[in-house]
Amino acid sequence: MNALSHRASRALDTLLDRTVAPGFSRVGYAVRRHLPTWPADPHPRALVGRHVAVTGASSGLGRRSALDLAALGATVHLIVRDAARGERVAGEVEAAVGRTGAARVWVCDVSDLDSVRELAGAFVASALPLRGLVHNAGALPPTRTTSAQGHELTMSLHVLGPVLMTQLLLPALAAGAGRVVFVTSGGMYTQELPVDDPEFERGEYSGTVAYARSKRGQVELLPVLAERWAASGMSVHATHPGWASTPGLDASLPRFAATLRPVLRSDVAGTDTTTWVVAREPAPPSGRLWHDRRDRPTSVLARSRPSAGERESFWQWVSDATGLDA
Ligand SMILES: NC(=O)c1ccc[n+]([C@@H]2O[C@H](COP(=O)([O-])OP(=O)(O)OC[C@H]3O[C@@H](n4cnc5c(N)ncnc54)[C@H](OP(=O)(O)O)[C@@H]3O)[C@@H](O)[C@H]2O)c1
Repeated sequence: MNALSHRASRALDTLLDRTVAPGFSRVGYAVRRHLPTWPADPHPRALVGRHVAVTGASSGLGRRSALDLAALGATVHLIVRDAARGERVAGEVEAAVGRTGAARVWVCDVSDLDSVRELAGAFVASALPLRGLVHNAGALPPTRTTSAQGHELTMSLHVLGPVLMTQLLLPALAAGAGRVVFVTSGGMYTQELPVDDPEFERGEYSGTVAYARSKRGQVELLPVLAERWAASGMSVHATHPGWASTPGLDASLPRFAATLRPVLRSDVAGTDTTTWVVAREPAPPSGRLWHDRRDRPTSVLARSRPSAGERESFWQWVSDATGLDA
């Protein structure tokens, strides 16, 4: 590839990203895959002998991640809140890869911090090293809902539960040089970090705003978490899938899903970067946001970029709510 085609390829990729609709849709993925700058696929046996856990693996992108990670040789640990739905996906994974024991089901409500503690305790007791932990479980409730501990649901499910789970799984992640991936959303570009009101107690509640704020919370914690866990040899990443056709998207944003149906990505395209981050060698640099195999800015609007003090104050709220440094 000559220097000009490399520059042109990066420029086209960036243009797709900044114009949002083309980049997030199936068009963005299809075009980028054919650019000369598209990174190589992971080795087909990249994850043989490795263990990777995926939350929310009973549906949509989580199910697809489980299938794709297992296809690269991983034993996948499906962290689900409904055992029967998890077993169904485990059966699909084993049938797809032709390997008995390729998938194992663990039950956990990720929004419930007690459930997270129980899951992590059982997992660490199994002494399995974790190469990957994909925080994929997600929801967009129509009305303000609270978790078992009384936290606003999206913040608990997307931020508190995953941060606590990672901290408690540290022995497994340190043993496996783990890569932790937060599956975030491009919706976070529209929102600021809710430093003064992380629980959405003020103003009229909107599920889409709460969801996007919690997803911003995920990306703003990346540098804090990457530094916190660097000494354990782990790395921390976020990926955003673009707009992918899933049961979750249909249920939570039916009009959006119906309007964009012709250009929605497949589940494979939506999870491609998550699988790539877990499987590629070497690990991508820690603390960054990835989409279509390239690191992306976490803010495009100046107003959505928090100061270091605001990020620190949000982290303080997360540590207090999870009892992390108590
Ligand atoms: N699809 C998109 O275009 C898109 C775009 C941006 C970001 N994302 C993100 O991608 C992730 C997957 O979304 P999806 O579109 O695949 O949605 P989905 O089909 O609804 O899947 C969501 C998964 O999360 C699980 N889940 C929900 N609440 C949970 C809880 N409290 N504890 C444990 N698991 C829980 C669900 O379990 P049940 O089966 O029990 O309900 C389901 O397996 C989410 O984090 C979402 O924010 C998706």
